[in-house]
Amino acid sequence: MGLQDEVKKRKTFAIISHPDAGKTTMTEKLLLFGNLIRTAGTVKAKKTGKYATSDWMEIEKQRGISVTSSVMNFEYKGHKVNILDTPGHEDFSEDTYRTLTAVDSVVMIIDATKGIEAQTIKLFKVCKMRGIPIFTFINKLDREGREPLELLDQIEDVLNIETYPMNWPVGMGKRFLGILDRYNDQFIKYNGNEDETYIPMSDMSEDELTEHPTYQETVDELALLNEAGDQFSLDRVLEGEQTPVFFGSALAPPFGVQTFFDTFISMAPAPGPRRTTQEVISPVYPDFSGFIFKIQANMNPQHRDRIAFLRVCSGKFERGMNVNVARTGKSIRLGQTQQFVASSRDTVEEAYAGGDIIGIYDPGIYRIGGDTLVESKQTFEFDELPQFPPEMFQRVTAKNVMKAKQFRKGIEQLVQEGAIQLFRGYPYDSMIIGAVGQLQYEVFQHRMKHEYNVEVLLESIGERIPRWLKKEQVDAKLFDERNLLVKDREGEFLVLFKNDFALRWFIDKHPKIDLIDLYEVN
Ligand code: G4P
Repeated sequence: MGLQDEVKKRKTFAIISHPDAGKTTMTEKLLLFGNLIRTAGTVKAKKTGKYATSDWMEIEKQRGISVTSSVMNFEYKGHKVNILDTPGHEDFSEDTYRTLTAVDSVVMIIDATKGIEAQTIKLFKVCKMRGIPIFTFINKLDREGREPLELLDQIEDVLNIETYPMNWPVGMGKRFLGILDRYNDQFIKYNGNEDETYIPMSDMSEDELTEHPTYQETVDELALLNEAGDQFSLDRVLEGEQTPVFFGSALAPPFGVQTFFDTFISMAPAPGPRRTTQEVISPVYPDFSGFIFKIQANMNPQHRDRIAFLRVCSGKFERGMNVNVARTGKSIRLGQTQQFVASSRDTVEEAYAGGDIIGIYDPGIYRIGGDTLVESKQTFEFDELPQFPPEMFQRVTAKNVMKAKQFRKGIEQLVQEGAIQLFRGYPYDSMIIGAVGQLQYEVFQHRMKHEYNVEVLLESIGERIPRWLKKEQVDAKLFDERNLLVKDREGEFLVLFKNDFALRWFIDKHPKIDLIDLYEVN
């Protein structure tokens, strides 16, 4: 099979959701489709620590959680499916965001009983900022949840994206009868077990349509949607402007999952070209190239080795090949490589452009910020990964002042690597580190101690809302501890607002000062 066919076959995506919405349950169902696991529950157990086969870093062992964004891949109906895990719960970190730079589409799971929740909003913003197509699955229909119309409204209002319901539930919870599959023009009947009955709409008798009050309600709602709702547009979906919405239930007996997945796979984009410093590189560009979006440190505490996660963007990867690190010009042989299949790590011999992810051994030479590896002599670099606005901030100092030198070196390297973000107080200098998740602080403290032999003291200044300023508009007098003025590592000024109220109050008082939200400019 030629490179072009291999590329076209690939569907690389991530599932985003708030903890407990059903990401693990859905992942299990998809792995069942791919025959990757035989019974549901295999992935699940990992979360509770019972399935801890990995020897990741100590923090992970203590917690029994998976720090890594692992990658699962399988064949499904002629496609090569790559699912990248986006860690949530306590292991939410910048890596979760970075993973989204390596996918071509995203499945967003929403709990029908809760609607949109905080973590979904954060992850959604990153997808929107990058124009990634988003497919929505509204889960837990077997429970009494919110009204479908209300859920659609909420998605449109809070997330600011058009919705197009691909199907519509007939009842919910105990009254649940099935879904009207609007896109395929059929009724999918819920039988209370794994078997779904598919009835073409044309075969539904007038009686069936009207005798059941719940059914009639659905027909009326759909008529309303047909009249007042948006038209389906695959182009808008692929531009990230419209999200197809599927209702269903991921838990046994799963319902609507198969139709959802089949439709999703048929619509999700295959890998496209990516921007570089030289030219736009198509996945069918014959030479191998890829970028690193994540580095997993200390996989084995004895060896302190690391695994860099690389997305193959063009050509074909073959184990043992020589490539150049574009940033440094160094040549390196990719001998030790791994592919991640659910819980095991197998050696990978070859991988193709368009979203295949490989783990390569990192002797400490790569940067998370998006290092590019290329086979050809004529090198180029893929766009750097964007800086994601952190939300929690802590002042950091060395416990022992005599260790100032190691302290600075450690911070410098960890910041450069992308493990944490550094800000400097202004005009009074102090070191403030920012993160998107608590785990990053724990990893930071752990690595400072074990790799640089420095114990650090962290003093929280809480969750903050960062807004960047234009240099010419900076007036230090306007800021204090509440709204803290700092500089980022590029020397750009930003303000860490105490809360939403403080931000709005400031905007009111100083309407002429432009406050820049990174999510809106990236
Ligand atoms: P997450 O990975 O997004 O955090 O969610 P996960 O799949 O672990 O699901 C969170 C909880 O919601 C689990 O219950 C799971 O069984 C349940 N769940 C997932 N999908 C559905 C669904 O379609 N319907 C219903 N009713 N529940 C669903 P739990 O009590 O936390 O765990 P467990 O005791 O079931 O293992």
